Amino acid sequence: MKPYVICHMMPSVDGRLRADRWDVPEAGHKEYERTADTYHADAWVCGRKTMEEFAKGRRRPKRARTGKIPRTDYVIPREKGKRFAIAIDTRGKLAWSDNEVEGDPLIEILTEDVPDSYLAFLRERGISYLFAGKRANDVDLALALEKLRTKFGVKKLMLEGGGETNGSFLREGLVDELSLLLTPVADGQPGEPALFDVEGAHHRKAMAKLRLKSVRRAAADMLWIRYSVRTNGRAD
Ligand SMILES: NC(=O)c1ccc[n+]([C@@H]2O[C@H](COP(=O)([O-])OP(=O)(O)OC[C@H]3O[C@@H](n4cnc5c(N)ncnc54)[C@H](OP(=O)(O)O)[C@@H]3O)[C@@H](O)[C@H]2O)c1
Repeated sequence: MKPYVICHMMPSVDGRLRADRWDVPEAGHKEYERTADTYHADAWVCGRKTMEEFAKGRRRPKRARTGKIPRTDYVIPREKGKRFAIAIDTRGKLAWSDNEVEGDPLIEILTEDVPDSYLAFLRERGISYLFAGKRANDVDLALALEKLRTKFGVKKLMLEGGGETNGSFLREGLVDELSLLLTPVADGQPGEPALFDVEGAHHRKAMAKLRLKSVRRAAADMLWIRYSVRTNGRAD
């Protein structure tokens, strides 16, 4: 059984994501955190590009000789009351200096073709990891979710971008709910990451159909819009 997945995001009115271009006031960022906290989730997950903003950028591949490390999941059990921060970093690029993000213990989602030296790096730092498939370009997100539930006890998960990551979860039919803090800016820049960027998508129909759960006025002229996902993923 997979965790319940809520995609919680702060898009512009034109559905784009690069909030660093928008001068969002502090009250807006706080509202994003406050509304996320209302879900009492066990973990939050982001793609490698978004997580690069929290890590010390990218790790340079090292030629250090590491012995072969078995491709078995490395599970450091959760301390009571803690939630996990999860990175989809199948190729092992993120240069963590710590085993936590903003106080939340890290889990890396990898594929079996990751270099041994990266596994050694994660073990040295006390960072949990799990394998979701054999190849980086074919990650099995359903398996990742299953393992998060059974091995780490994650029952409720916040999916927090960016667009490629949200798109890949949606395509696989793994999103249960959307929680959007619509931010009062029109970004207008073609090619910027959008709420759902589905790789190679040239489908005739929309990726998902939604049902409105609630709309509320929020701080900093934002709207908090919640939808449940009616039909999800693998559209024609
Ligand atoms: N406004 C908001 O609420 C909000 C929230 C979050 C992020 N953002 C913004 O969104 C932007 C980044 O979004 P993005 O779409 O460019 O990147 P992203 O989703 O953060 O990261 C994409 C990367 O994650 C890895 N990945 C994700 N799904 C995967 C899959 N199914 N299979 C294999 N690898 C997968 C890949 O890493 P590799 O390339 O290493 O293979 C991929 O290139 C940033 O500007 C960030 O600030 C905004």
